[in-house]
Amino acid sequence: MSLYILGIESSCDDTSAAVLRETTLCSNVTANQDVHTAFGGVVPELASRAHQQNIIPVVDTALKKAGITKEQLSAVAFTRGPGLLGSLLVGTSFAKSFAYALQIPLVEINHMEAHVLAHFVMDEAKPKDVPGFPFLCLTVSGGHTQIVQVNDYFSMEVLGRTIDDAAGEAFDKAAKILGLPYPGGPFIDKYAKEGNPAAFKFSKPNISGLDYSFSGLKTSFLYFVRDRLREDENFIQNNMADLSASIQHAIVESLMKKLVMAVKQTGIKEVAIAGGVSANSGLRTALLSMQSKGWKVFIPDFQYTTDNAAMIAVAGYFKYLRKEFADLSAAPYSR
Ligand code: KG4
Ligand code: ZN
Repeated sequence: MSLYILGIESSCDDTSAAVLRETTLCSNVTANQDVHTAFGGVVPELASRAHQQNIIPVVDTALKKAGITKEQLSAVAFTRGPGLLGSLLVGTSFAKSFAYALQIPLVEINHMEAHVLAHFVMDEAKPKDVPGFPFLCLTVSGGHTQIVQVNDYFSMEVLGRTIDDAAGEAFDKAAKILGLPYPGGPFIDKYAKEGNPAAFKFSKPNISGLDYSFSGLKTSFLYFVRDRLREDENFIQNNMADLSASIQHAIVESLMKKLVMAVKQTGIKEVAIAGGVSANSGLRTALLSMQSKGWKVFIPDFQYTTDNAAMIAVAGYFKYLRKEFADLSAAPYSR
């Protein structure tokens, strides 16, 4: 009998449900929330309300797309944290009641671990290699930036992290300065493709060890744009591609510098990237270029970069095998 896991993700502004047969993807359905665009960032109360509206149709669609009934499920895995508390509450409450009604195990998942484990979701149509333990994973999203040494599915050691803004935040804040919609990372990426990454230089963060800092870069970018706008009110419109390419280059260069240091320090040359910013074409190209230095690199399919429930379901599968189940008292945690 096949083992089907339902994954539920609701930690920020994406409501997602996925069905996996063991580690093989059957469906991965995400409802994005447009309500936040007008506010230039995620509004927690609006996110919770939208999750509440989306959760049942999203789960229903995921089951239908997978071609199974809810009675065929073996377990329900859900994101317990970190994330926005009101958002997490919706997914957590739904997962608990669903598992309870079906009398199947409930599995709690850490969102950051799931981003890393997204590399183990298999697509029948697209066979791929998975990383071998131990490997390094640069997890870069809107809320987090970490270099993690992954010793086993649930044995991860954080070697470095950001001391202020996350890399995704750096992209989004730069985009906001340029007047681009939220989230701005994908727009910077799009314009950067036409621009010159060496056109403009910004002050580089200088943090010791494997930690990151992006707040200084954001300030430097802000002052640079502000000063140029004084001389030419059309400076942004006339230089959108070069500005995007230059800030993207600065962020990617800073991400790669510490990753290279981590590889040198640990001697581990299997290196993966994960999280929303791993969709960035500049970062992908930079990582691929390290193959010439003997790195074995792992770049996730686009559907597994930003928040998705397939990564929750695959993490749930590995915990299910270990019989690590949650009980109905599991409350969400924000950090
Ligand atoms: O992992 P994710 O969906 O949510 C969090 O857990 O934060 O990551 C969202 C972040 C946003 O900051 C978004 O701008 C960024 O990922 N992002 C990108 C790209 N696609 C998404 N940043 C740069 N280039 C992209 N192509
Ligand atoms: Zn995420």
